[in-house]
Amino acid sequence: MATVGIIGLGYVGLPLAVAFAQEGCDVIGVDVDSRKITSIKQGDSYIEDVPSERLRELSDRIHATTRYARLAKADAVLICVPTPLTPNREPDLGPLLDAARALAEVLQSDQLVVLESTTYPGTTRERLAPLLEESGLAAGRDFHLAFSPERVDPGRTDYTLRNTPKVLGGLTEACAERAEALYGLVCERVVRVSSPEAAELSKLLENIFRSVNIALVNELAMLTDRMGIDVWEVVEAASTKPYGFMRFDPGPGMGGHCLPVDPFYLSWRAREFDMATEFIELAGKVNQQMPYHCVAKAQRALNDAGLSVKGARIAVLGVSYKAGVGDVRESPALKIISLLRELGGEVSYHDPHVPTLSEFGLVNRPLEEALDDADLALIVTAHPSLDHDLIARRARLVVDLRGVTRGRHVGNVVLL
Ligand SMILES: NC(=O)c1ccc[n+]([C@@H]2O[C@H](COP(=O)([O-])OP(=O)(O)OC[C@H]3O[C@@H](n4cnc5c(N)ncnc54)[C@H](O)[C@@H]3O)[C@@H](O)[C@H]2O)c1
Repeated sequence: MATVGIIGLGYVGLPLAVAFAQEGCDVIGVDVDSRKITSIKQGDSYIEDVPSERLRELSDRIHATTRYARLAKADAVLICVPTPLTPNREPDLGPLLDAARALAEVLQSDQLVVLESTTYPGTTRERLAPLLEESGLAAGRDFHLAFSPERVDPGRTDYTLRNTPKVLGGLTEACAERAEALYGLVCERVVRVSSPEAAELSKLLENIFRSVNIALVNELAMLTDRMGIDVWEVVEAASTKPYGFMRFDPGPGMGGHCLPVDPFYLSWRAREFDMATEFIELAGKVNQQMPYHCVAKAQRALNDAGLSVKGARIAVLGVSYKAGVGDVRESPALKIISLLRELGGEVSYHDPHVPTLSEFGLVNRPLEEALDDADLALIVTAHPSLDHDLIARRARLVVDLRGVTRGRHVGNVVLL
């Protein structure tokens, strides 16, 4: 059974560590964040999809450490570090390059290295391989190298690592074969493509596809607002077409570590090839506009009730970037809260998944207390555990940015 090293024990790396450990592999997990290492050692999970009990059951197989040297014993090393953007919206490969340099110091011949972090085509071959080769070993000859994008969807239970096909591209055929054998332990189906570049781009295509379609329906929502048409009714009607249409719902904008970030990795790379990726830029622009549109909608709803945002008590319901999870990275709720505060609104929030929003000095308030106190309840993220019937009945005024109170319509509800 293989010993698997994993660099970066976050949303991607920790579930992967658990999956390999469950198959009987020894896992060496490396992270620069010593708090994560301590949590894992104590059997305390910080990722919602990984129950703490699971970590405890597997404690003899998952060895968490801050020391790269331990990776010398691994048969394969999977890199799952963040790939964010710089403040100028350019790829920030800092964490990946740091990880590559540190790994190069302990790399062994015949090891397999796989990059899982989302990135632009060319990263594995042009950026990762040369740094790893500083070890004196040659990629594709002395060690194997491949790219295989992560497709985890936090909070989802129907499609998991096991039953979601795993795309992978190796630097050589032998690299791909080694990687396929490894992933075959935890995935039912591995989809091999001819190169790391094809695998890198396939992940970006998936995310750009979502970003563009979300932008399309969001733009429609802004138009239907002016036209006085119910966008939800339109989306629902179009969704009855059994072919050639895929449903996307409008909302307050995109969040998370992926959709607002990844497409710009490709725009940046495309500029080197004298191409402007207009769909990506346009989708980004429309989606970034949504929090402003949603705040304007809330402002109008308050106005119609004879109130101004200034001084109004506004309870934001759901602040994570998507339903069922506690991740607030790039969440549109954060932008909405800042905009409402700039206008003088007194904002509180309820989110069962997010105990505090320290950047705003806010803590999660009990739902009924937040509703009773508020002039306006603003549904930003529709967690399945929230009782939206109760919200619509109990709140004085509701602006629903997710369409979850549709149909249970009462006069106090305004839909996006
Ligand atoms: N979160 C998702 O849903 C998701 C889905 C698919 C793909 N991805 C991609 O996977 C990658 C990782 O994302 P994530 O959400 O797991 O990020 P994350 O921030 O949750 O975890 C990354 C971990 O890497 C650690 N790290 C940073 N630099 C390091 C270094 N030099 N050495 C060792 N550890 C280091 C961090 O401390 C952190 O614990 C990104 O490229 C992301 O785009 C994420």
